Amino acid sequence: MALIFVLIPLLIFTISIVYFSIQTGISPMPSSLEVKKALIPLLPQKIDGKIYELGSGWGSILVQFVNQYPKAEIVGYELSFFPWLTAWLRLKWLGGVKAQVLRKDFFSTKLENATLVFCYLYPGAMDKLKEKFENELSRGSIVVTNSFTIPGWKPLMTIAVNDLFRSKIYYYKKN
Ligand SMILES: C[S@@+](CC[C@H](N)C(=O)[O-])C[C@H]1O[C@@H](n2cnc3c(N)ncnc32)[C@H](O)[C@@H]1O
Repeated sequence: MALIFVLIPLLIFTISIVYFSIQTGISPMPSSLEVKKALIPLLPQKIDGKIYELGSGWGSILVQFVNQYPKAEIVGYELSFFPWLTAWLRLKWLGGVKAQVLRKDFFSTKLENATLVFCYLYPGAMDKLKEKFENELSRGSIVVTNSFTIPGWKPLMTIAVNDLFRSKIYYYKKN
């Protein structure tokens, strides 16, 4: 009987993760620790303007951005319920930060005043984001992607990371 109280929540959790992975086209797999470490020296020391994370998963990059840029306005978008809830709780736990995670499709919102955009998505999303970035980002905005390139854009830097997937980080500046 007690097993039911474990199995039912576990089933709901699993169904939710699978449902949103199918809906968004990607699971909420987080960037590796090595990618997160490599991001710190790669990013500018100071940021004026907003930081966006498109598909913020469980919030680990958001938390890292909060620590790296405590005064910056940071916005994460995440559709998958449990990852979004976890990220939301992590930001609440930090308290008093200017970061938020919205349960919204990032394609349905404008990237206003963006200085830095980070994402770890999949090729189909990068195709659509290329157009969004070209329409909405100002010249000089930084875009950093994990594993997937922006078609037609030339990265200023490519960093190969020594993790399980030999991930690559691409660092772009909008022309
Ligand atoms: C591979 S995970 C990356 C998580 C996090 N950015 C990281 O690097 O650790 C991609 C996340 O993007 C979310 N996602 C994909 N498309 C989305 C969309 N259109 N709007 C909001 N979230 C989206 C997925 O639900 C998933 O959690």
